[in-house]
Amino acid sequence: MNVLVSGGAGYVGSHAARMLSRAGHEVWAYDNLVFGHRGAVAPGRLIEGDLLDKAKVVATLREHQIDAVMHFAAFAYVGESVTDPAKYYHNNIVGTLSLMDAMREAGVWRIVFSSTCATYGEPESVPIRETQAQNPINPYGYTKLVIERALSDFAKAYGWGYAALRYFNAAGASTDGDLGEDHDPETHLIPLVLQVALGQREHITIFGDKLPTPDGTCIRDYIHVDDLASAHISALEKLGRGTEFRCNLGTGQGTSVKEVIDACRAITGRPIPAVVAPPRAGDPPALIADAGLARRELGWVPRYTSITPIVETAWKWHESHPDGYAD
Ligand code: UFG
Repeated sequence: MNVLVSGGAGYVGSHAARMLSRAGHEVWAYDNLVFGHRGAVAPGRLIEGDLLDKAKVVATLREHQIDAVMHFAAFAYVGESVTDPAKYYHNNIVGTLSLMDAMREAGVWRIVFSSTCATYGEPESVPIRETQAQNPINPYGYTKLVIERALSDFAKAYGWGYAALRYFNAAGASTDGDLGEDHDPETHLIPLVLQVALGQREHITIFGDKLPTPDGTCIRDYIHVDDLASAHISALEKLGRGTEFRCNLGTGQGTSVKEVIDACRAITGRPIPAVVAPPRAGDPPALIADAGLARRELGWVPRYTSITPIVETAWKWHESHPDGYAD
């Protein structure tokens, strides 16, 4: 298939684009480089543009005879979405609707969409199944939920086929160390801890150690970025006219903040000082996927099921790219 990857220069998008291309698809990354990196895209495969430029998206879809879109491009800082919701509503909803209009105009009807476990809000119970109510507690999660609903309406009305994949905590880097996680600002736990290991930060701050979890720190379900990528390819292959597929992407294993830091200490051999601070507003104590649906429906099996090999790939990237893509 000819696939347009919006946000293809970003963290998850770049890993997915490369895997798609290795699986034999013709891949084009569409990215405005606000957060993406030129160095994360294969030479000659980057189309620099904004999703709000509908005419450019339509022209791109037509020129490359695109069969399917993988849509990663979005803002994804939960905290910022609370302090500056306008930015999130505009980029994540208006930008995506512009992309969807362009797809209609160009006759493209297959889409794989990056959704998030943040659409569930405070989970009713853990592990989280797809049947749980979606009540996001921040604008970021709400913008993703709105697009899930829009896709469902488009599937019913226009015969679109879509997959909305609800990621838990994307982590790690490509095994060859060429692609990795480079956010500015960085807010994610594993890269921050590894920056301490590299001497770029003095300590890691643990957001709360008296939470209702076994060691008192937050539990998350860390999923390797290449496992996310492979699930996208399986989902894409499943799409027919009217297909509506929504599922969690996680491993089903929870890891606490303290366990992440200990794994980083063991792998890097560096001490990594940690300081405890109050919990971060809006952080649920535990988020773990029930990962059964993706396994059953996509035949998808994550390669990385524990934190150690995930952190090993992240460390390989951070050690060899201390300044990220340096662009
Ligand atoms: N944490 C710390 N110290 C830090 C950074 C994070 O203790 O300096 C903790 C957080 O409290 C959380 C865990 O480490 O418990 C993971 O935090 P991240 O910021 O790495 O990830 P989040 O779980 O907050 O967010 C991720 C994605 C979001 C997505 C969200 C769903 O980054 O895009 O999961 O809840 F919306």
